[in-house]
Formats: sequence, structure tokens, C-alpha cells
Amino acid sequence: MSAIDPARHARVAGRLRGMPTSDGAGVRLTRVIGSPQLPDLDPFLLLDEFGTERAEDYIAGFPEHPHRGFETVTYMLDGRMRHRDNKGHEGLLVPGGVQWMTAGSGLVHSEMPEQEAGRMRGFQLWVNLPAKDKMTAPRYQEFGPERIPLVQPSEGVEVRVIAGQVDGVAGPVAQPATDPLYLDVALEAGRSWTHRLPAGHNAFVYVYEGALTVGEGDDARQLSAQELAVLGGGDVLFVQANAATRAIVVAGRPLREPVARHGPFVMNTREELMQAFVDFQEGRF
Ligand code: FE2
Repeated sequence: MSAIDPARHARVAGRLRGMPTSDGAGVRLTRVIGSPQLPDLDPFLLLDEFGTERAEDYIAGFPEHPHRGFETVTYMLDGRMRHRDNKGHEGLLVPGGVQWMTAGSGLVHSEMPEQEAGRMRGFQLWVNLPAKDKMTAPRYQEFGPERIPLVQPSEGVEVRVIAGQVDGVAGPVAQPATDPLYLDVALEAGRSWTHRLPAGHNAFVYVYEGALTVGEGDDARQLSAQELAVLGGGDVLFVQANAATRAIVVAGRPLREPVARHGPFVMNTREELMQAFVDFQEGRF
């Protein structure tokens, strides 16, 4: 047990399993946020996990497609993806690296596997932008694995800090609008970890390997692999690994603005959404 007042513990407010789907040119993935069971968790619009050893599940990739009005965050665990956009930006995503792309006013890009065999695994998270930033110029924050700090809060616990802070160590990504926390947490079986979440943020834990208990006492709930917990209650997250476990812990400041979304466009009003379609069709991205 931890020494923290149980009233301050984050608890599991909702629990769900991702839905198998396909996107791009037929890439098989698991949609965890952005499906009918959890359409969004403000400011998060979508979370996809892709993970497969079978080349046919990923080889077709994500050929040219547009985005406007939000950010796409790709975190690779295994495999390599080549990224290109219509503004001349190109990059290679490698294991342990992250690409935080602010689509803003719009771009057209492709995300294609740079391999023909072997394992491809990672996440794509969509983070909304506030109305005032939706038409900002596109921007990239790209970091290789060597730029992601690794913190060891205690024996058997390792945390990679992509965004936000752990024990005073800050991740490289900056986004003042939503002040995101994005952590990749690895725990040996039986180990536990306590972390103070930013107050007022919406937060979730997604287990991608192993099994984890969130909270303590009567509020404790177990998450198995491929399960997401939406957190509620207090801001002190307590987790205990029931097996060797890896999970992402993500939090963001909610925008509390109207969302008008369709496919790769996420705006505030229906009129802005229609304008996005027109602008894209007329080549203004
Ligand atoms: Fe994309």
C-alpha cells in the first residue's frame, strides 16, 4: 500500500477494450479511442494501437491523406515508417522515436512502412487543438529514442517521458494548449508506481503488455493487455504490475469546445468542416 490518502487516488471511471479495424490502405489496427464505445476523451480524439508480425497487416501503409485542425502523435515501438508531406517535410520514424505533428491549417502526407518483413508496433494518438490554433502553420516535433528521457523512479520501474514530467525530468514535446503528459511505463511483475497527474486533466492508462491493477482497496481494478482505463477521482495514480507490464499513461487539459469532425478534419463548427473539404478539394492544403 502507498502512504497517500485514498481519497486522492485516481480510480478507474471506465474500462474498455479496443476494437479491431483497418485504416489507410488496409492497415490492421486496434482503435481504442475514437470508436463508438469512446468517441473521444477531450482533448484526445483517437488512439490506435498497431502491432503485428505479419507484413500483410501493415505493408499497404497510409498513402497520401490530409489532416486539418488537430495533432497526430506517432510513437513507434518496433519497425520503421517513412513520413512525407506536401510541404517538403520528410522523416523516418524508428523504434522508440516520436513524431508530434501539428497539422494546423492543413497538410497532405503519407506514412509508409520502411520494411517488408518483421514486427511493426506502436501508437497513433490524435490530440485536438483549441479554436485559436486550428489554422496555425503546420509544425513538427520529432525526436529519436535518444531524445526521450528514461526515468527509474524505483527498482523495477522504468518510465520514458515523451511529454510532461516525471520526478522533475521533462519530456521533449511542448504543447501549451493541452499541456500533455505522455509516458511509456515498464514495470517488472509485482512492482508498483505512484505518480501525480496534472490537476484537472483528463487521463487514461492503456496496457499493451502484461496486466496492471489501478488504484487500491475497494477501488482497485485490474486491466489486462489491450484494455484502457479512463481515470477519474483524485490526481494520484497508483498502479501495480501483476506481470511484467508495459502501459502508456496519457493526460491532457480538456479544451471544452464544440467538436465538428469528419475523417481527417476536426474543427469547431459544421461550416469550418465544410470549408476544410472545399479547401482540400481545391488544393489549398
Ligand atoms: Fe496521417
